[in-house]
Amino acid sequence: MKQASVFVSGTSAGLGEALAASYLEKGAQVYGLSRSGSPGSHPNLHDTKVDIGDLDGLEEALKAFLAGLDSLDTVILNAGILGEIQPMHTLEMDSLKHLMDVNVWSNKLLLDYLCESGIKVAQVVAISSGAAVNGNKGWGAYSLSKATLNMLIKLYAAEYPEIHFSALAPGLIDTRMQDQLCDQGRVDESEFPSVIKLRQARGTQNMPTPAVAAATISALIPKLKSTLQSGEFVDIRNL
Ligand SMILES: NC(=O)c1ccc[n+]([C@@H]2O[C@H](COP(=O)([O-])OP(=O)(O)OC[C@H]3O[C@@H](n4cnc5c(N)ncnc54)[C@H](OP(=O)(O)O)[C@@H]3O)[C@@H](O)[C@H]2O)c1
Repeated sequence: MKQASVFVSGTSAGLGEALAASYLEKGAQVYGLSRSGSPGSHPNLHDTKVDIGDLDGLEEALKAFLAGLDSLDTVILNAGILGEIQPMHTLEMDSLKHLMDVNVWSNKLLLDYLCESGIKVAQVVAISSGAAVNGNKGWGAYSLSKATLNMLIKLYAAEYPEIHFSALAPGLIDTRMQDQLCDQGRVDESEFPSVIKLRQARGTQNMPTPAVAAATISALIPKLKSTLQSGEFVDIRNL
């Protein structure tokens, strides 16, 4: 049987690292990227260091990394940043633009390369967030980026009917992104009360470890293809 091949962005830490490990365990060939590189090595892990926020260099980096690859069963657009939790009116345009470059426009370039390079892609899953629809105070840049990502996925679904696209909010996961939200002294919960729920969830089954979340998500991904219309956004907590 042909080995599955999977592309995951953001494999140096958190959910992306755990997704890579989960697919490697299933015997897949995994293509991972991040700025700092995947922590482990494995004969089936192909890893490169790329800053996806460097939009000008991204296509060349992908060409060099994926040269010769003819198909990908699954593409997981996972890399992302949270930015600062702060009121919208204090958000500087440069930091908003940078966050949009990393969380959204890099994914446009990744999809353009993957869909047009001749690599046969079967399924694309973009890791979104409940923040795409929540609109809580302080989550401005991140919420905007994930809402735009959801529409980006819908638009690509309309252009490439042969590929199945979905945007998936993965629920809370205990990664360094949560350190930013939950560690004492980093976000003032009286000003940004949405973090209280996250702090209460930490250490409970409502905020699983990356390994637990990755096992659930990698098992769910084939079902997204068979049950959702291409282009849809779904929150794992509503399934
Ligand atoms: N954790 C949660 O509760 C939660 C909830 C909802 C959605 N999400 C989403 O889940 C995804 C994964 O988040 P996480 O919680 O696993 O965060 P994380 O632990 O901070 O990991 C983020 C990953 O993205 C990579 N990355 C960030 N900026 C990059 C850049 N400019 N170029 C290349 N790679 C970059 C990081 O690698 P380097 O730093 O090495 O570049 C790292 O591998 C994100 O899209 C996030 O929005 C997370």
